Amino acid sequence: MTTGDISNKTQKTDHTEERARPKTKITVLSRAAQVLTLQDGPLGARAGAEQSALGLREEYSVVLQGEEIVWCGPADTLDRAGIDAGGAGGEVEELDCRGRVIMPALVDSHTHAVWGGARKDELEKRLAGADYEEIFAAGGGILSSVRQTRALSEDALYEQTARRLTRMRAAGTTTFEIKSGYGLELETELRQLRVARRLRTEGGFRVKSTCLAAHAIPAERRASGEAGRARFLAHVIEDILPAVARERLADYCDVFCDRGAFTPDETRAVFERARALGLRPRVHANEFGHTGGAQVAAEINAASADHLLHLDARERAALRDAGVIATLLPGTSTVLGKPFADGRALVEDGVPIAVATDCNPGSCAFENLSMVLALACYGCRLSPAEAICATTHNAAVSLDLGDTVGRVAEGLQADLLVLETDDYRDLVYHAGSPLIHAVFQAGARVA
Ligand code: NIG
Ligand code: FE
Repeated sequence: MTTGDISNKTQKTDHTEERARPKTKITVLSRAAQVLTLQDGPLGARAGAEQSALGLREEYSVVLQGEEIVWCGPADTLDRAGIDAGGAGGEVEELDCRGRVIMPALVDSHTHAVWGGARKDELEKRLAGADYEEIFAAGGGILSSVRQTRALSEDALYEQTARRLTRMRAAGTTTFEIKSGYGLELETELRQLRVARRLRTEGGFRVKSTCLAAHAIPAERRASGEAGRARFLAHVIEDILPAVARERLADYCDVFCDRGAFTPDETRAVFERARALGLRPRVHANEFGHTGGAQVAAEINAASADHLLHLDARERAALRDAGVIATLLPGTSTVLGKPFADGRALVEDGVPIAVATDCNPGSCAFENLSMVLALACYGCRLSPAEAICATTHNAAVSLDLGDTVGRVAEGLQADLLVLETDDYRDLVYHAGSPLIHAVFQAGARVA
């Protein structure tokens, strides 16, 4: 598309719609040293060699109009007159991107961002040698966050989470998946999901939400052993999921399928109901061992199988053949002192990879996905290019947003980062440095 098209597009819009329509703002991100377009691969999730094709262009400019990217091309071919005509008297702003990188904003496809309280005492215990699974089995861990979350009002949860997402966005993330799972009963699960919805409608964050009511057996059901367990599962299947679907509070359903949580058969039962209610599955799988979660994810064509610290060749082949995206959470391995998922084996076996923070009160409260992207390189052995695809396009596809965000392409939402470096690999080389110069969401500069 040439810049003449910007002018044409705007003129056409002005002509066909109301004359009094407010002029949309144009932002020109000019002459970047590198633009990571992610344009040289398939529109679906990318695997194997495709995962490192960043579509890197040098000396390119990108033009945003309203919420969208309307042009991306060689800086020298940008026609200023076309831009001014395209603005048709509206505001035109320019950001000089010489010596900088433009890339898609990050997509965090696995968070538990809505919670009450904190578990910093457990952090110290774990650093002194205590084990995450033991703390959980003894009534701490997830169950501690359930107690603290149940005690908070919707407004209190909303305020705290909005502050959290604002920090996460300043670190480069504009799209968030948010799970419930710290209620474990109807009222609090719905409260968490309502907060997630308000973060989208009132907070202006780009959010997809997931019902994770099957996160743990709650304390009050544990006293009655197997019967309490069965009653809780029935509560999830017969009460919580239908209420969530009725109020349209979630896009996905997740189950923690692992040792100490839910068995593969219990997981299948929850997903069967979820699917009938229109909620696509995502699975917490194979975090503690070869506990069957990855196999279930493949069997039911889940949108994503997450964690995957323990994964053999057969499980990788099953995920690949079923088209399941493997979501790696290297921040959690770092915090819990556990092994890292084997990213290289997944690339070699052709499984598409996403990388996310897992941001939650216990196993990993990291908020900075651009740092977790670097951990995916150092821990999971992804290349910087593979990790960028995993935190942009592939993560967007896993949230059914591949045609909305995750690439620098005309017609997509203008969710972009401008980096204060001329080489994208500095995100890994200088991991943790404040390299993010600007964050755009839907064409507006938000950080
Ligand atoms: O993904 N593994 C299960 N759930 C979360 C942890 C939640 C918590 O510890 O509060 C996770 O790591
Ligand atoms: Fe998680």
